[in-house]
Amino acid sequence: MSIPAHSTALVTGASTGIGAIYADRLAHRGHDLILVARDAARLEALATRLRAETGRTITVLPADLTDPAQLARVVQAIADTPNLGLLVNNAGLALSGTLTTSPEAEVARLIALNVTAPTLLARAAAVRLSAAGGGAIVNIASVLALSPEAFDGTYSATKAFILTLSQGLAKELAPSGVQVQAVLPGATRTEIWERSGKDVDSFPAEMVMDAGDLVDAALVGLDRGETVTIPPLADEAGWNALQSARLALAPHLSRRDVAVRYRTAGDA
Ligand SMILES: NC(=O)c1ccc[n+]([C@@H]2O[C@H](COP(=O)([O-])OP(=O)(O)OC[C@H]3O[C@@H](n4cnc5c(N)ncnc54)[C@H](OP(=O)(O)O)[C@@H]3O)[C@@H](O)[C@H]2O)c1
Repeated sequence: MSIPAHSTALVTGASTGIGAIYADRLAHRGHDLILVARDAARLEALATRLRAETGRTITVLPADLTDPAQLARVVQAIADTPNLGLLVNNAGLALSGTLTTSPEAEVARLIALNVTAPTLLARAAAVRLSAAGGGAIVNIASVLALSPEAFDGTYSATKAFILTLSQGLAKELAPSGVQVQAVLPGATRTEIWERSGKDVDSFPAEMVMDAGDLVDAALVGLDRGETVTIPPLADEAGWNALQSARLALAPHLSRRDVAVRYRTAGDA
């Protein structure tokens, strides 16, 4: 594994849900932590428990990642942490409606939190970790990156962005020994559902994963060096086929000549 033992992990969205479980698992694996979210009291309660259970150094860094000045403080923390080994880009939100029915300010917040913040944090970590010659960046995307028709297309688009960012960054950073992993959860039981006015229990129970199971599976994928980890997908042949088809298209996607099917009669 390319993540140095006992290095520091910075986890965003660590006050609850998937991020709080990452914090728990990483502290028990022997990492020191920097915990980021808005709710300082919840972060401090988690930090207190994890310090007592693991003896690790746990730092709380309250920040609203949609605020450029507060995001800049977290970017700076990444640059300033001497033994940084891991960034978990997890904080995220979903819209209460769709692109057309959600307030404009909420759409802007979605893009700030799900796209702008993880991109700038990944950039800072990529610079920091590649200079150190190792470590990992974990980006929490969603299976909706592959299935935009199943949910609000705007949220899904932010997750497709994270998937593409991760695949491109993984290639860029491979020579420097830095691992990049995109994790694609399906429906997972956390507060994100009620925060966006939805009821996770409207799904059949067999479609909803426990957040602890999700994170444990994602860490198995990380330990295996996977670039893309999809914990609910039972048969990885489907994902491999999609990747093969995508890569097979690549040599045909940039041409001087317009494809014959788009030529007009006058082109003959
Ligand atoms: N649960 C699912 O079904 C599911 C499925 C696929 C992907 N995901 C993705 O998994 C990630 C974690 O989601 P979750 O399900 O664990 O959601 P959650 O329970 O709602 O937790 C979201 C976390 O993000 C933090 N956060 C929200 N707004 C923030 C802001 N402006 N600045 C800083 N932190 C902020 C929250 O803390 P504060 O409120 O204290 O700031 C909280 O710690 C997200 O990227 C989500 O899109 C979730």
